[in-house]
Amino acid sequence: MLTLAVGSRSEKERETFMTDCKRLIEVAFPLKQASLDSVHEKNVRHGHISTLHIWPARRPLAACRAALIATLLPDPGNPEERKRLLEKIGGTVVQKVEKKKIGDKTVDVIRDETVGGILHWGRESNPDMEWFRQEIRKAYGGRAPKVLDPFAGGGAIPLEAMRLGCDVTAGDINPVAWFILKCTLEYPQKLAGQHRPLPKFALESPEFMETFFKSTGKLTKKQLERNLDTVQRKLFPPPDVDLSWHVRAWGWWVLREARRDLAKFYPTYAEFEPLSGATQLDTSGIPGV
Ligand SMILES: C[S@@+](CC[C@H](N)C(=O)[O-])C[C@H]1O[C@@H](n2cnc3c(N)ncnc32)[C@H](O)[C@@H]1O
Repeated sequence: MLTLAVGSRSEKERETFMTDCKRLIEVAFPLKQASLDSVHEKNVRHGHISTLHIWPARRPLAACRAALIATLLPDPGNPEERKRLLEKIGGTVVQKVEKKKIGDKTVDVIRDETVGGILHWGRESNPDMEWFRQEIRKAYGGRAPKVLDPFAGGGAIPLEAMRLGCDVTAGDINPVAWFILKCTLEYPQKLAGQHRPLPKFALESPEFMETFFKSTGKLTKKQLERNLDTVQRKLFPPPDVDLSWHVRAWGWWVLREARRDLAKFYPTYAEFEPLSGATQLDTSGIPGV
């Protein structure tokens, strides 16, 4: 078990210590591991905050997590404990041989990757994350440290700080970033687990409801084709739905209204995809659709 130098001090001593002591990031950082896991994250297509809304210069979550931990925790003060702490954050780097087709030949390509640690996409739910939350609290006298990101952009730093149990404030001068921050940091926390009725415009849209019912697997394609309206209202009145369906419904509405308003400025596109046709709902992220 790793013991940080700060662990055995009184609360008052800890506060002074955390003001004066060297943080891990001032002495060492799992640079290679954070870089490898950050590059890997660029290929993640589902569940990543970058899929919620595009934001330029969004930082990789792996790099933010590593930088936050190394900033919030003190340097253990000796090389062995420092090495163990760095490994607990970033794991170790191993080489993996992969087969790659180049033209008509298959060649071996050696690739570096991390094993262990909590930076790689998917390892954020690793039980070690709880260990880091506890250590960070301990380092701040048993309280959650406050983290302020006044240039929060797409929200990577505050999201990771929240994951590490910090008391977080995020802001940005750009109203688009501000809204992305609301949707990334605040609404999921407030609304997760709640179910509410779909908005009226969604209930009245055969295209939207077809996608909805298909995803529930309740209706066969034949039933849908026969009479969606009767089937949906009489046989299966839609249940209250979770936040993800409200995001889909309102996203679909915004897209439909934007297409309608902007069509006159983009006649070529409007001809290519006429407004009279059904506006397709993007169902790529919905399992079973
Ligand atoms: C490099 S981006 C931050 C990216 C962010 N760390 C992330 O991971 O998405 C810099 C941000 O600073 C914001 N910004 C620039 N000047 C600002 C100011 N005076 N006050 C608040 N935000 C500002 C920009 O709108 C932009 O979103």
